[in-house]
Amino acid sequence: MTDKNTNPEREWFGEEKVTPTEKTRKVLGVFDNVASKYDVMNDLMSAGVHRLWKDRLIRRIRPKRNQEFLDVAGGTGDIAFRIRKATSATTNITVCDINSSMLEVGRDRAIDRGYLHNFDFITGNAEDLPFEDNSFDVYTIAFGLRNVTHIDKALAEACRVLKPGGRFFCLEFSHIDDPAMSKLYDLYSYNVIPKIGKIVAGDEGSYKYLVESIRKFPKPAALEKRMHEAGFGKTHSLPMSLGIVCIHEGWKT
Ligand SMILES: C[S@@+](CC[C@H](N)C(=O)[O-])C[C@H]1O[C@@H](n2cnc3c(N)ncnc32)[C@H](O)[C@@H]1O
Repeated sequence: MTDKNTNPEREWFGEEKVTPTEKTRKVLGVFDNVASKYDVMNDLMSAGVHRLWKDRLIRRIRPKRNQEFLDVAGGTGDIAFRIRKATSATTNITVCDINSSMLEVGRDRAIDRGYLHNFDFITGNAEDLPFEDNSFDVYTIAFGLRNVTHIDKALAEACRVLKPGGRFFCLEFSHIDDPAMSKLYDLYSYNVIPKIGKIVAGDEGSYKYLVESIRKFPKPAALEKRMHEAGFGKTHSLPMSLGIVCIHEGWKT
């Protein structure tokens, strides 16, 4: 199978057709632009509901203090901090992101919270993780996978770095099945979110991309198939909020 067939998202930057190299560069640019306003924008765009989705993710994970955690596309640290809160100061948590501006905000937030120990912030690409095989018990990626150019490479890398028996959790925007609700959601996201981006972050284009990229992300069944192809033995999808978001889970057997 060609790369084009296995990674159709690689040539879409939102609704704009680009080369894979351009996509990676443009996604880097988006998060460079939004890093300083990223957290406040999340609260504004979702009316704070992203916090509930992230809390639900942590309840699904049920983190244990002796486990090794990797949060990929970890950005400003929301998932890593929740894992720390649910475990202990001796638990090792690695946050990896391709964008150092996002990681810098995350590092500052960690210092503000007094999370100084057993936290690693590493710049790296989900498609080529700078970690040994079989290193982590839990891999998380929240609102990150749809920004990755080659999703299948990222899934294979997730499987590689997980220990046998390790678990993969992807929290991502998904697809609403109900046509009327889907139309309402489209009206809101296409029209309102880029405007909020313009007013609060001075950047309409980045938020237009973030909305458009949601529509390009595979539906749960398609993603589960790709997770199996990447090496996960068992998978599960948990839609939330009418399908606006979904937690995709995989087990490395
Ligand atoms: C929408 S933010 C999510 C941040 C955080 N996980 C959260 O839930 O708030 C997406 C993050 O994915 C990162 N990202 C995009 N492409 C990536 C890649 N190929 N490898 C690693 N991180 C990537 C971006 O830099 C950005 O920090």
